[in-house]
Amino acid sequence: MSLLNISASQGIFRWAIDILFAWLWTYLGVMADKSARHVKQVVFPLAKGKVLEVGPGFGPNFGYYNKDNITELHLIEPNKGMIGKLKANAAKAGFTNAKVTNSTIEAVPLENGQYDTIICCLVLCSVDSVQEVVNNLYRSLKPGGRLIFIEHVQASAGSYGNQFGPVVVAFWKFVQNMLTPFWRTFTGHCHVNRPSDQLLIHRFAWDQVYTSSLSAPAAEFEALSRRIMSDFPAEMSQLSSVPVAEPSQMPVFMRRLTPNVWGLLVKPYIR
Ligand SMILES: C[S@@+](CC[C@H](N)C(=O)[O-])C[C@H]1O[C@@H](n2cnc3c(N)ncnc32)[C@H](O)[C@@H]1O
Repeated sequence: MSLLNISASQGIFRWAIDILFAWLWTYLGVMADKSARHVKQVVFPLAKGKVLEVGPGFGPNFGYYNKDNITELHLIEPNKGMIGKLKANAAKAGFTNAKVTNSTIEAVPLENGQYDTIICCLVLCSVDSVQEVVNNLYRSLKPGGRLIFIEHVQASAGSYGNQFGPVVVAFWKFVQNMLTPFWRTFTGHCHVNRPSDQLLIHRFAWDQVYTSSLSAPAAEFEALSRRIMSDFPAEMSQLSSVPVAEPSQMPVFMRRLTPNVWGLLVKPYIR
């Protein structure tokens, strides 16, 4: 069995890789949460009704949800090394009735039009078939449902907040492609070269689309946040001003290798 196949396999190797990744994410996850905090403050309060969070890890996002608007919370997390802390954090955040499924998203049959909101936060990089998962998530959203994502993606002008030219983008795409086979073996099957943002945004006819890069200029973030705040006044009433981004603690190499794109996508009522 090659090193590349180990990460996708079951049994003892999968277990060891899960434990290694859970340990790594204890540290990296805190940095990732801090660098996206301003975005999370704007989009996660929009989670409402029956909510699915895919791959919630240790559950760093619960604190951003508006608990009063959530009727049901379903968490699908395959990593056995994360499940204990995930359940404890859900309970601590007041989601005592959260349904926690220890499984991959691929292995859970999703019904059509099942969820009001789906959250994907740094998870599509790790699923086995991103196209299949994205299709199933869209299918399982109710009409008018919301898909909220923060994902690190393949390098593109958009993923860098439009400040980089094609040569720089091509260079980082090359680095991402070269590193992915090695990287995914030690990082819970994470691919740094997936255009997950493109698949999510352009594959479906969304009714409303709000999306930007985490490294977009502050003015762009402010303008988009204001649009969201004015389009969803009920959910956003508790946010009195646009949050300010903290300087990222991620090393520059990591920020370039894993550029983050975030978005709020609303499914049409009538197709
Ligand atoms: C980078 S971590 C992000 C965790 C969390 N969402 C956060 O923001 O801290 C990726 C998460 O996706 C989960 N994951 C990986 N493959 C998955 C799959 N096929 N289905 C569901 N979750 C998956 C991992 O176990 C891990 O918890």
